[in-house]
Amino acid sequence: MTVPSRPGSDQFTLWNGPTGRTWVEHQAMIDALFAPFEALLVDAAVAVAPRAVLDVGCGAGSTTLAVARRLGAGAHYTGIDISDPMMVAAHDHAARQRLPVRFIRADAQSYEFVPAEFDMIISRFGVMFFDDPIRAFANLRHAAQSRAALRFIAWRSPEENPFMTTAERAAAPLVPTMPARVPDAPGQFGFADGRRVRHILEQAGWTSIDIRPMDVACVMPATALTPYLTHMGPLGAILRDTDPATQAGIIQTVRAAFDRYVDGTQIRFTSACWMVAATAP
Ligand SMILES: C[S@@+](CC[C@H](N)C(=O)[O-])C[C@H]1O[C@@H](n2cnc3c(N)ncnc32)[C@H](O)[C@@H]1O
Repeated sequence: MTVPSRPGSDQFTLWNGPTGRTWVEHQAMIDALFAPFEALLVDAAVAVAPRAVLDVGCGAGSTTLAVARRLGAGAHYTGIDISDPMMVAAHDHAARQRLPVRFIRADAQSYEFVPAEFDMIISRFGVMFFDDPIRAFANLRHAAQSRAALRFIAWRSPEENPFMTTAERAAAPLVPTMPARVPDAPGQFGFADGRRVRHILEQAGWTSIDIRPMDVACVMPATALTPYLTHMGPLGAILRDTDPATQAGIIQTVRAAFDRYVDGTQIRFTSACWMVAATAP
């Protein structure tokens, strides 16, 4: 199902443009890197034993599909995402895995869900991008049954996640157009402030809010480092429009800044996140 999702908004443009396509292209690398977070949400789903699960900002659907594989035919599974390229990939993965998962290409903050359809709402890094997060979480609450469980994972601050910001910091002296991270703005670190997340959920009508810091060990093959730093995040977006000679100089500088994360054939780092739990009233 497809509904209009506010073409013109920054996040719509981002996730339907090169950023969305880059995520699809590098989905295998991203899924391997984020596998520990997927496992945490699958475990949370097993504990809740829901009948109808919604995955918000589901991207190419790996978490939605992992929950569906684990819980099986006793429940219904839906993913919602604003990005057309991500939804095409999600449909494709579901078809190949023969999993009956429904994907909706729409803006989760305004989509007219069937009221009280879901008894569990999950997200792996998919809820920090709303222009109006209170409206978004109120909309999700309307989609939730009474006592439904909300469980999502979001990044803590850039300072607590130095791996995630190494590329932009190392490249900044060479790239005058490197955008600054704006606290609380929609984006990767939009939910860095746990007190703000609590305020958003309270204002949106969620109860029993529990926001727990979580440090998660992440690992990826050293061979994935250059593709990672040249395609993901703000630097990836800038390199797409940079001439090859300038690109080569930037990549050399930035690659060296990651040396401290190299452990033989692996890259190891710790991710600082929030595991957020809440209940619909
Ligand atoms: C960081 S990605 C995470 C994707 C996926 N959950 C994963 O872990 O691979 C964030 C996702 O949120 C989606 N997104 C951003 N704003 C959205 C909105 N307003 N409604 C629905 N999805 C949105 C993006 O299209 C993107 O797929």
